Parts: sequence; C-alpha cells; structure tokens
Amino acid sequence: MLSVENVTVTYGPAVVLQDISLRIGPGEIVFIAGRNGAGKTTLLKTVSGFLKPRQGTIAFQGNDVAGQRPERIARSGLRYVFQDKRVFSQLTVRENIELAAFGAGEKLSDAIAKVVSLYPKIQQFLDVPAGGLSGGQRQILLIGRALVGSPKLLLIDEPTEGLAAGTINDILNVLNDMRRWVGMLIVEQNLSVVGMLANRLYIMQEGRIVREVTDPDEIRAKSALEKYL
Ligand SMILES: Nc1ncnc2c1ncn2[C@@H]1O[C@H](COP(=O)(O)OP(=O)(O)OP(=O)(O)O)[C@@H](O)[C@H]1O
Ligand SMILES: [Mg+2]
Repeated sequence: MLSVENVTVTYGPAVVLQDISLRIGPGEIVFIAGRNGAGKTTLLKTVSGFLKPRQGTIAFQGNDVAGQRPERIARSGLRYVFQDKRVFSQLTVRENIELAAFGAGEKLSDAIAKVVSLYPKIQQFLDVPAGGLSGGQRQILLIGRALVGSPKLLLIDEPTEGLAAGTINDILNVLNDMRRWVGMLIVEQNLSVVGMLANRLYIMQEGRIVREVTDPDEIRAKSALEKYL
C-alpha cells in the first residue's frame, strides 16, 4: 500500500532523513520508535506531502506521490494526524467533525456515527466546545476526524504522548478497533503500546532506520529495544 524507497530529506545544509526505506501493507499497524530529534515527525511530514524529499520515491497504492501537495495526498486516502493535538477549540465537537465531513464529501450523520462507534463516550460531548475536552479525548477526536471519508492509511504522530495511563488505554482500544478499517503508521515512544498493537516496528536513529523488528516476541519483550529510546 505504501512503499518508501531511499528517501533523503534536508533542512538547508542539514540532512535530517537519510536513505529511508519502508513499506506498509493493507491493514497493517506499523510503528516507528526513536529518540527525540531522530526524524520521526519529518518522515511522516514527508510521506504526507508537507515536506519534499530531496531524493527517493514514495508510492501510495501504486502512485508516485513524492512532492505532491498534502491536500491531494489526503484526498487519495492517506491522512496525517499531527503531533500537536490541535483541534478547533472554539467549535463544538460536532462542528469539528462536520468540517472534516465537508472536506471529505461524507454525510455528517455518517461521520459522527463513525466517531461515536469508536468512542461512545464522545456522544455526551458533541455539543460542547472541543477546547474543553481532555487531552485523550482531543486525540480521539482527531483520529476520528481523520477516519472520515474512509482513508486507506493513517499516519499518527505520538498519539499517547503526555497522556495518563487510563487514557492511554482508551487510545489503545480505539486504535485496535480501527484495524478493520485502515492501515496505520504510528510514531510511538511507549513500548508497551507498541507491544500491544504492532505488526512490525522500525527504529530510527539520527535520521536513519537502523532496525526493522518483525518478531512479535521481540516486540513484546521490549528489553532489547529500550536502548534505542
Ligand atoms: N523546520 C526545521 N528546520 C530545521 N531543522 C529542523 C526543522 N524541523 C526539525 N528539524 C530538525 O530535524 C531533526 C528531526 O526532527 P523531528 O521533529 O523529525 O524529530 P522527531 O523524531 O519527531 O523528534 P520528537 O521525538 O522530539 O518529536 C531534529 O534535529 C530537528 O532539530
Ligand atoms: Mg516528532
């Protein structure tokens, strides 16, 4: 579904991503872990069209998307949920979903039903300003919004960052539930979350992918992976 080959990205003279190759098949949940500054966000921004690679190819469902505009890539079924957890805080939860539904040409009632089915508790917050939601609820709203219009692949940047344990559990359930709809490429530093959901894991260090971990036991054991974080 997504195939990234030998991608290099620079900010001025600084090489921030070097020779990155990865792939995600339909329905897979693939994680990226690595220290702060390793280049994880830069990689997601490049795949979703917010940055242009200097070298390499990015193919999504067989089409070369490297250098295409983000709106166009999003319309083709690849959505990016940013690291900053920003919602339209003055608008209600319903209006936040409405904006996404409008952009994707989906009926508002269908869009709301999708978000509610992922996280039924959101029902009681539909008519309150989204700025009043907790961090975890905001994250779920952002993920739910990204699902509107039936994308094929979601890129999610650190969904559990800064959240309490109970809330992380809610996010885990939501992500697990979403497997039936979309593939996901998720940046995550919490190895317990990775262990519970990952089909595969890539580890980044200083702008490179230094390991791909495919053995489920190794992913779940964590101990061998902690040195990378
Ligand atoms: N706009 C920019 N201009 C110049 N350098 C940048 C810019 N944005 C990021 N960088 C640098 O690129 C490198 C990778 O940053 P990136 O945000 O991709 O890392 P990250 O792995 O997502 O880190 P974090 O875990 O803190 O989110 C860092 O060294 C960072 O300082
Ligand atoms: Mg980041």
